[in-house]
Amino acid sequence: MRLGALEPEHPVLTLPGDGNAPEKPIEVEVRRLVAVDRRYDNARRSLSGPQSSARTTLGQEVNIAAQPQSAESCIVRLDDARLSYPSPEGEIAVLQGVDLTVAAGEVVAVTGPSGSGKSSLIAMIGGLESPTGGRVRVLGVDVAAASEHERTHLRRRDIGIVFQAYHLVPAMTALQNVALPLMLAGHDDSRERAAEILERVGLGHRLTHRPSALSGGEQQRVAVARAFVAGPSLLLADEPTGNLDRKTGAGVADTMFALVRDTGAAMLMVTHDDAMSARCDRVIALDGGRVLS
Ligand SMILES: Nc1ncnc2c1ncn2[C@@H]1O[C@H](COP(=O)(O)OP(=O)(O)O)[C@@H](O)[C@H]1O
Ligand SMILES: [Mg+2]
Repeated sequence: MRLGALEPEHPVLTLPGDGNAPEKPIEVEVRRLVAVDRRYDNARRSLSGPQSSARTTLGQEVNIAAQPQSAESCIVRLDDARLSYPSPEGEIAVLQGVDLTVAAGEVVAVTGPSGSGKSSLIAMIGGLESPTGGRVRVLGVDVAAASEHERTHLRRRDIGIVFQAYHLVPAMTALQNVALPLMLAGHDDSRERAAEILERVGLGHRLTHRPSALSGGEQQRVAVARAFVAGPSLLLADEPTGNLDRKTGAGVADTMFALVRDTGAAMLMVTHDDAMSARCDRVIALDGGRVLS
């Protein structure tokens, strides 16, 4: 698997031939891809005003060193964190002073009604949105104060994200999707590691399938594998089973819990499912951009 120009904005990858996909250079504008996804989310909110900028990468990338950079053992620490979006009627205050800590290895459910700010919270902790007030520290890094370069590093090293809508690259096979974060980080064993984690999530027999040839549950398993492939110390999951039927969702959740427990990663998981919340160490409830409990 060869890596072309390793420009963070416009990486050009040469994908390996693997059965269904012959070797060919392919331009992957990772940032733009997820930015489009995010715009889709925004469009659904039927807001006609200017959108907040979507400075995003694949959302999850690579963890080389999972050590917190400060003496604290907190993976996540929010102090009076705020997030506002611009709109034609003025600023919309979406997160209105959130205090939250997540310890290493802790598994926390995030609940709350639609529009309460759950996705915004995940996006802010994942570095996809910048806090507009207060302080957000992830592995000791103050994300607002950090440079874009530092934030990208943090996302590549330490954070995995799973979205409700999978967000796989349609033109890539399961193996290529999972290998992508490692390729972007310049690993030369990305293919082997991707195959290993796909095996682990039960997709060893689907390596060369493209997303369109996979069921919803399988696509989400690919996304879970992609989020875990680099061994993140924080997994962020935004309604990961929200698009799946109950049984399929429970299977995907089992895999996520097993991976988190086995690797010692912390997890923040947005869910409306009480059975899922009950499996977490702690539940926080958001309402109107504030933490209730
Ligand atoms: N990019 C954005 N621009 C403007 N408003 C937004 C944007 N993203 C979210 N919002 C608004 O923020 C509020 C919280 O949204 P969200 O975090 O998606 O909530 P939840 O995930 O709990 O349903 C909603 O009122 C939503 O319309
Ligand atoms: Mg949401």
